[in-house]
Amino acid sequence: MAGSEGRLSVAMVEVVDAQEAGFVEIAREFSAIMAKKGYGRTDIVRDESSPSTFYAVRHWASAEAAETCHADPDIQALTARLYKIARVTHVVNGVRRTDPTRLLLDDRRKHVESDRRSGFERRKKDVGRKDGERRKADRRLGPRRTRGPNVELDIVATARRARENADARFSNFKVGAALETADGTLIGGCNVENATYGLTICAERVAMFKAISEGHRVFTRIAIVADTPTLTPPCGACRQILWEFGGNLEVILANLSAEQATHRLKTLLPLPFDARLL
Ligand code: THU
Repeated sequence: MAGSEGRLSVAMVEVVDAQEAGFVEIAREFSAIMAKKGYGRTDIVRDESSPSTFYAVRHWASAEAAETCHADPDIQALTARLYKIARVTHVVNGVRRTDPTRLLLDDRRKHVESDRRSGFERRKKDVGRKDGERRKADRRLGPRRTRGPNVELDIVATARRARENADARFSNFKVGAALETADGTLIGGCNVENATYGLTICAERVAMFKAISEGHRVFTRIAIVADTPTLTPPCGACRQILWEFGGNLEVILANLSAEQATHRLKTLLPLPFDARLL
């Protein structure tokens, strides 16, 4: 993918019945603001086989321009209007940030991969165990056990780190989440329990409310991590909140080992209730 210039994002926009003209008007205003403020340009492509579905292709002047655009109050007002008449799914996100944590993880992973030799050969230095003796309890979490493309490592690793902060003193069931915004920022969340039990809040909602309170409004994916052999899906309440603020998110479920699964929120919450029905 490109360097810091010329980034591309694509969103699928599913417009509710009879609101297509409203969408075209919003898209026109969006394009005009992007051009006027130098953020880039937008192409709208209609899906021939599904006339209420559009693809919004945004050519950003730079990753920074995309970030400024997402924070622009005029754009946020337009996005709020759009969300009243359409469901938006981010298909391509060309402005993901390469943050220092990611570079650090990639670097560690590269190191580990190159050290993937077999048998005793692998040991470079004396680690205080006899040859053939295996490391047992207290195994470290880390890149060696985390497979898949780096981008997955990133979001899942962030959810795993967030899980370490969980306050699950009543259930002992620690959960971590990482929510990705349209500009590639990853926001962590963990479950926080309460003596009344009912005031407990799940990791996913913590992540979403943190993101909203920081001004983010457009989201692409969420990763959810628990220490269970069967992957932990979001509870019903979280599905509703994620849908209302995040739309048809990609939902990545993971644990502390290599197990991982990906779903779309729409399949986890069929026939949802949301603002379009008010
Ligand atoms: N929990 C989450 O944080 N997310 C989920 O997806 C499932 C459940 C938390 C809530 C509570 O603190 C604990 O897990 C047990 O239900």
